[in-house]
Amino acid sequence: MAGDARRTPAPWTADAGAVQARVRRLRARGAAIAFVPTMGYLHAGHLSLIARARKGGARVLASVFVNPLQFGPREDFRAYPRDRARDARLLARAGVELVYAPRATAFTPEGHVTRVVVGGVAEPLEGEIRPGHFAGVATVVSKLLHVVEPDELWLGQKDAQQVAVLARMLHDLDFSVRLRVGATVREADGLALSSRNIRLTPPERAQAPALWRALRAGRAALLAPGRASARSAARAMRDALRAATLARVDYAELVDSATFRAPARGATHGLLVVAARFPSARLIDNLKVRWRGGLA
Ligand code: PAF
Repeated sequence: MAGDARRTPAPWTADAGAVQARVRRLRARGAAIAFVPTMGYLHAGHLSLIARARKGGARVLASVFVNPLQFGPREDFRAYPRDRARDARLLARAGVELVYAPRATAFTPEGHVTRVVVGGVAEPLEGEIRPGHFAGVATVVSKLLHVVEPDELWLGQKDAQQVAVLARMLHDLDFSVRLRVGATVREADGLALSSRNIRLTPPERAQAPALWRALRAGRAALLAPGRASARSAARAMRDALRAATLARVDYAELVDSATFRAPARGATHGLLVVAARFPSARLIDNLKVRWRGGLA
């Protein structure tokens, strides 16, 4: 990404009216509008969403907003990586039409107390460990969608529970936007790309691929001869995670990909999910798996 430094930055605005005017002009020319919301410090995962949306023929708008509503009081809001100039160059190179970067003082000002609270799928796992997180995500994504009014909303599979929560919200609140999900992009050693990876110390970075190895170990356990079992998948994942001595495991298990709760007996597919907390950054990852025969 170093070569991007010489690119002309993408047009960038904090003004919702300017975004709406641009969207109106694009629509008048018959364009479909795709929207990629981000918190900035972009990586190849974000850029792959933009590339896929453009390949499908849409004109792409992105947002960059480090959303204070989705961070808990003890989380890394202040330490979250930010680099506007770099993001603007990467977004220009990726071919976005416009970057919407609202100011927190105007978008989520003091006294902004209304929240979009999704139930069900938002409650376990990340919902339990990060109280208020999904309400913060759902609230801000709703607000962004009200401004942009895109035809397509693009999200990354790495945040699988976020995708499920927002899919539920779009359905329940009658948003007329099509949700599109892009595959997780990984480093050569399997580590899922995340803006937070930059904060890992070298020893943490060396251990971080243990999450991907744990997912593969869970998948191998589910695909092994004999009856697939959630318990043996979880055990295999935990065993693989022992190599990450610097991390504390928040969860490592097989869940139903619609509910994010334990899969039903007899299920033939599910989602392996893992979250581990290194001192410098918390990482999550997931892997869809199908197996033969029903779950024990
Ligand atoms: O996935 C993210 O980066 C954020 O949760 C999102 C969707 C941009 C909302 O702030």
